[in-house]
Amino acid sequence: MRKKIALIGGGQIGQNLAMLAAMKELGDIVVLDVPDYVNPVKGKALDLMEMAPHGSYDANITGTSDYKDIEGADVAIVTAGKPRVAGMSREDLLSTNLKIITDAANGIKTYAPKAFCIIVTNPLDAMVYAFYKLTGFPRNQVVGMAGTLDTARWRSFIAMELGVSVVDVAGTVLGGHGPDMVPLPRLTTVGGVPLVEIASQEQIDKLVYRTREAGTEIVKLFGKGSAFFSPAFSAIIMAESYLRDKRRILSCAALCEGEYGIKGLFIGVPALISAKGVEKIFEIKLSDEERAQLQKTAEGVKKTVGETKL
Ligand code: APR
Repeated sequence: MRKKIALIGGGQIGQNLAMLAAMKELGDIVVLDVPDYVNPVKGKALDLMEMAPHGSYDANITGTSDYKDIEGADVAIVTAGKPRVAGMSREDLLSTNLKIITDAANGIKTYAPKAFCIIVTNPLDAMVYAFYKLTGFPRNQVVGMAGTLDTARWRSFIAMELGVSVVDVAGTVLGGHGPDMVPLPRLTTVGGVPLVEIASQEQIDKLVYRTREAGTEIVKLFGKGSAFFSPAFSAIIMAESYLRDKRRILSCAALCEGEYGIKGLFIGVPALISAKGVEKIFEIKLSDEERAQLQKTAEGVKKTVGETKL
């Protein structure tokens, strides 16, 4: 039997998730959205079924507004919620999206209590915390998609700046999904060559800044709405690592219980995603400066989490 993937939210990111999950043949796909938007998601699902002959995938793809239809899902990816418009911070979305995450948590808890849950809705670190609290799911079953995207942005900007293949850029970004996130130039390499040996400090500072502001750069260009291709792909590789037990180590918003001196917060850390979900968090030996930066971002996350009152 095929695996089942529930996509909660069928907007910009949700529709790209559906296409990527289909193209990767991860399983059957149910896209759930509010009743007012159920016809568009049914249409998107049908459109993807009609793409299947050229996409060479077999999958049943449907749209719904009824949580019963996600019953028994193996994976749930939550993008339900409002995106930013120009001039807004991710935190400005908190009260609106908290209500929406509450719906999603209730629906998934009732109909897909074993699903590996990947939260994408912003403000990410607070929404994944809220989802975890509201469902009461085990720690390994809930994760936030942010660091995977922030790392992809960091790698892309480095490749663009140095004129090298993005494939050869390896590195990671820790911390909350906001302007205090912590790219780690010291641990970034390009084809095995340390970034700090081939880029100037001025270039590195520019790359760190652009990565931290990458989401906002796109929001400014769009005017309304935020990035969708790269967030969708980032969430899909997390889902794929779980479903196919690929055991990828990805920067994810995982629940820290003492790791990096952080307790009770979801924050971007390198995590092993396997068939067990978030199997392990890796603790990197950080420099004093990197540790201080991580502490600063954790304080920001703690403040936003506090506003959820959960
Ligand atoms: N249940 C299900 N779906 C919902 C609900 C709900 N209670 N409330 C809203 N939605 C749906 C909307 O109808 C819409 O189709 O969520 C979808 C969100 O899609 P977009 O508005 O296109 O937003 P998108 O760009 O996909 O971003 C979604 O991810 O990265 C974050 O900041 C971003 O919070 C935003 C989320």
